[in-house]
Amino acid sequence: MNAPWNPARTAQRDPFVAFVCDDTTAEAIRPIATEMGWAAEKVNKGGLRNAVQTLSVSASPNILFVDLSESGDPLNDINALAEVCEPGTVVIAAGQVNDVRLYRDLVASGIQDYLLKPLNPDQLRESLSGAQTALNAPRVPESAAVERPHCAVAVIGTRGGVGASTLATSLAWLLSSRSKRTTALLDLDIHFGTGALALDLEPGRGLTDAIENPSRIDGLFIERAMVRASDTLAVLSAEAPINAPIITDGAAFYQLQEEMRGAFECTVVDLPRGMLVNHPHLISDIQVAVIATEFTLASARDTIRILAWFKSNAPQVKVLVVANRVQVAAQLEISRKDFEGSIERKVDLLLPFEPKVASQAAKLGKPLAEVAKGNKAFALLVEFASGLLACADVDSAADAKGRGKAKAGGASAGAGGTSLLGKLGAIGAKLPGKKK
Ligand SMILES: Nc1ncnc2c1ncn2[C@@H]1O[C@H](COP(=O)(O)OP(=O)(O)OP(=O)(O)O)[C@@H](O)[C@H]1O
Ligand SMILES: [Mg+2]
Repeated sequence: MNAPWNPARTAQRDPFVAFVCDDTTAEAIRPIATEMGWAAEKVNKGGLRNAVQTLSVSASPNILFVDLSESGDPLNDINALAEVCEPGTVVIAAGQVNDVRLYRDLVASGIQDYLLKPLNPDQLRESLSGAQTALNAPRVPESAAVERPHCAVAVIGTRGGVGASTLATSLAWLLSSRSKRTTALLDLDIHFGTGALALDLEPGRGLTDAIENPSRIDGLFIERAMVRASDTLAVLSAEAPINAPIITDGAAFYQLQEEMRGAFECTVVDLPRGMLVNHPHLISDIQVAVIATEFTLASARDTIRILAWFKSNAPQVKVLVVANRVQVAAQLEISRKDFEGSIERKVDLLLPFEPKVASQAAKLGKPLAEVAKGNKAFALLVEFASGLLACADVDSAADAKGRGKAKAGGASAGAGGTSLLGKLGAIGAKLPGKKK
C-alpha cells in the first residue's frame, strides 16, 4: 500500500482489523479472528468507506479485511484505500461480484486475496493464514520480488489529431497508477509534443539534449532528464525550437528506449507516424503497437497502410486498433461495420467523442483516463491498459522459448498493402454522395 510509512506508528499496529458491511459477515469473521488470536472487537461495521476514513488518521493494521459490497467502483476505491494504507499491510477484500477480471485487477493493485460473499469459513481461515504467512515472509524490495518482463508500447495515430497523444498519456498513467508499474512516457513528437503539457509539467531540455548528444545517454542521464509526474510515472518530452530542423539518424531515440527498458517496467512511446517511415528500427523492441484512429475515410486508408506496414516490417508486434473520438452513428463519416470491413479486422477498443471530459482533462493538466474515472464510456480503457501487460508477458514467454524475432526495417514500407488498399474503393462507394 502507498501511504508514507510512519515508523513511529509501527509499534501501534493492530495485528488484524476488519471493516464489513453487514452483521452476517461480521459474525462469520469474529470466531475465526478469535481462533487466530486476534480481538473479535476489531471487526468494525462500515465497509471500505469506514476503512479509508479510519486509516487516514490511524496506524494501518498488519492484516486488513475490507468488505467492498457497498462500493460502486471497487478497483477505484481500493486505490483510494491504498493512498491511506501504510506499506506492509496485507489486505484481504470481500464482495458479492463474482468476476475473475475484478479478482485479477484487485490482485494486480496489491490485494492479497478476494473472497466471495457469503463467506465460507474454511476459505476465510485459509485466506487469513495465507495473509499471516505473507506477513512473516522475508521482505525483499518490491522490484526484486517479481521479475516482470518489460512492457514496451508504441501509440501511433493514423491521422493528425485522432487522439494518439491523449491515449499514450492515459495508457502510461493507467499502467503506472492502476497496474502499479514504473512507467516512462517517451514523447517523440519533438517539436509539437504534448506529453509534458498534458500532465501540467515543463518538458525540460532532456530530450533535445539527448538528440544533440546521443553518446551522453545512460542510466544516470535518464534519471536526471526525465520529468517526474508521480512516484511511478516519468516523462521525456520536448518543445524543440521550430526555427531549425532536428538532424538525427534516430540513434538517440533508440538508445533512449534501451535505457528506459532498464530503468522502468513499462515504456509508452508516443510515436508520430512519420517515424515509422524515417526510423523503422524504433519498433524493433516494441511489444504492442496501439493504432489510434477515427471512423473517417482518410483514417481507414491510413489504418490499412499502417497495419500492412506492421505485417511486413514488424510481424512480431501485437497490433491493437483503438477508434477514438467516436460520434453517434448518424454523424460518422464511415460506420464501424464498414470501417472494420475495410481494415479486415475488428477494432479492439472504441472510445466516444467526449469533448467535456477532454477539455476538463486539458484544463486540469491530467490524463483523460484520470478525469474520466467513473465515466462508463471510458471504463474499458482500464481493462485495455492491463491487457497490454498480458500481451507483453505472452511476447516475452514466446521469446524465452527461443522464437526468432523479426526486426523492423526489412521490407519496404507499404509492401503487402496493395490488396488492402484496394478495399478503399469499397469504402468510397459507401460514403454519402459517393454512391454510384
Ligand atoms: N475521446 C475524445 N473525445 C473528445 N476529444 C478528444 C478525445 N480524445 C482526444 N480528444 C481531444 O482531441 C485533440 C487531439 O488530441 P491529441 O493531441 O491527443 O491527438 P494526436 O493524435 O496526438 O494529435 P497530433 O497529430 O497533433 O499528434 C485534443 O484536444 C484532445 O483533448
Ligand atoms: Mg500527438
